Amino acid sequence: MWRLLPPTALLLLASAGTRAEGLPKAELSLSPEWDRLLEQDPVTLTCRGNRVEEDSFARWWHNGTLLPCQASSLSIAAARVNDSGEYRCRTNRSALSDPLRLQVVAAWLVLQARRWVVQTGDPIVMRCHSWKNLTVYRVQFFQNGRGKKFSRHNSEFHIPAATSEHNGSYFCRGMIQDRRNESSEAVQVIVLGVATPPAPPGKLAIVSLLPGLLFVLDTGLYLSVRRDLRRALKKGRSDTTTRSKSPEDKQEQ
Ligand SMILES: *[C@@H]1O[C@H](CO)[C@@H](O)[C@H](O)[C@H]1NC(C)=O
Ligand SMILES: *[C@@H]1O[C@H](CO)[C@@H](O)[C@H](O)[C@H]1NC(C)=O
Ligand SMILES: *[C@@H]1O[C@H](CO)[C@@H](O)[C@H](O)[C@H]1NC(C)=O
Repeated sequence: MWRLLPPTALLLLASAGTRAEGLPKAELSLSPEWDRLLEQDPVTLTCRGNRVEEDSFARWWHNGTLLPCQASSLSIAAARVNDSGEYRCRTNRSALSDPLRLQVVAAWLVLQARRWVVQTGDPIVMRCHSWKNLTVYRVQFFQNGRGKKFSRHNSEFHIPAATSEHNGSYFCRGMIQDRRNESSEAVQVIVLGVATPPAPPGKLAIVSLLPGLLFVLDTGLYLSVRRDLRRALKKGRSDTTTRSKSPEDKQEQ
């Protein structure tokens, strides 16, 4: 779909990052929101700088190669497998965006999700999407090979609040136009543990200083105890030496 530009584009990509230092990162979004698609699906990528005024100009990279498109939206009317890969963009008033990975699959069915990595407690929404939106009957969702949900028509699967049990590999299966029994590829859904809020920096500094501090205190204590002990011993010794000048005492001193 895109006429590829020479590898000098890669240099531009590298300098685009440094030149735009201090500017907010551009934000890259998808419409429809699914990052896994089937061939022939339409998709539009939109690049937004962090400004109230809309940027009408953007630069686009696909797998590190500069694309000829300079509009703030990049429309793919009918996706192809080779449209898969990493997209980045930036506008005049924004730095290079984080990469967005698009995967175009040549298949009858694809499992789609809003996000593949969720936090515990977040909802998971999955969809069993068919090629050219052909009607799918008897849709079933599988987790780690076990059937989870069966539905005659509805091809969506909702998990209201994810737990570690929902972590795993998912695929869907259905009858396309009541004839073809087809399955999607399996995809990993990762449920992260409950997020622990990061410790405030002050506390963190104390925690990391603590072992050192204890060591210093310990050594100080040890040294002063040793000094006192020596003093006491010396005193005791001189007391005893004055009283009974034993030969061992003399040798030691
Ligand atoms: C993708 O493949 C088609 C042929 O199937 C070709 O015409 C097109 O230029 C390719 N696009 C890219 C970005 O390589
Ligand atoms: C979730 O699944 C992934 C891949 O299947 C695995 O690497 C990870 O350890 C799992 N995490 C939990 C908490 O079960
Ligand atoms: C579809 O095929 C699988 C085996 O690949 C089978 O277990 C399942 O029952 C079939 N579904 C229908 C609705 O025929």
